[in-house]
Amino acid sequence: MSVETRVKRVTTHVLSEMKLKGEKISVLTAYDYSMAKIIDHAGIDAIIVGDSASNVMAGHSTTLPITLDQMIYHAASVVRAVQRALVVVDLPFGSYQGNSKEALSSAIRIMKETSADAVKMEGGIEIIESVSRVLSAGIPVMGHLGLTPQSIHKFGTYAVRARQEEEVEKLLSDAHLLEDTGCFAIVLEKIPAQVGTRVASELTIPLIGIGAGGGVDGQVLVIHDMLGINQEFSPRFLRRYHDLFSEIDGAVNHYIQDVKNGNFPNEREQY
Ligand code: KIV
Repeated sequence: MSVETRVKRVTTHVLSEMKLKGEKISVLTAYDYSMAKIIDHAGIDAIIVGDSASNVMAGHSTTLPITLDQMIYHAASVVRAVQRALVVVDLPFGSYQGNSKEALSSAIRIMKETSADAVKMEGGIEIIESVSRVLSAGIPVMGHLGLTPQSIHKFGTYAVRARQEEEVEKLLSDAHLLEDTGCFAIVLEKIPAQVGTRVASELTIPLIGIGAGGGVDGQVLVIHDMLGINQEFSPRFLRRYHDLFSEIDGAVNHYIQDVKNGNFPNEREQY
């Protein structure tokens, strides 16, 4: 029996076992109770409460504005719904960079106030002191390399990362550093597929890709993008599994017509 079908509750240990056995890991984002309940019921292995909430839930153009309090609100809502998946929460911009004590207190707030399983932090050597301090408190950390949206103003573009050899070398050295420091997994965002495959083959911890090709150990997508709720974002790596924008638009339109022409409520829908 596969590791995935055997377990009642996914832990960081389960994810490493899945990598060891070559079982792919499925991950999606979620930010609220109702959506988390559906994707956990469907059998997703892990849920990331991403700071992409800043974009898809709050309408900001970057992930920078979302606050620690707001991430805690989203994460606590998700955790209340989840029975099986591992829940990982993004530490938001400004809550961990350049100050490892602040990183630890931010991570502790997330763990205490949401009951999530782990936190995620963007970056390599630049944030390693913070990663190490959070790990020292027994809090599991997922790394995030490649395109790191919290650093958008440093790079100025959401283009594919690690195309040049120098950048590939930095990515590999950061990935090894995060593994050696104790991260249990790393998200690799928007890098060439062959670089993703190379990192996944050199590391023993699971590599979860978003636009990192099929040679990594698992895949993550933003739920609003893969369901077609958000139509404003169409990178090459995104596969849309539904056109929920049109479905909801159609249903709401139908409702409006029913209200306007007196078809709702009918005899059975009133007291
Ligand atoms: O914020 C987010 O949604 C993420 C995903 C790419 C995992 O970091």
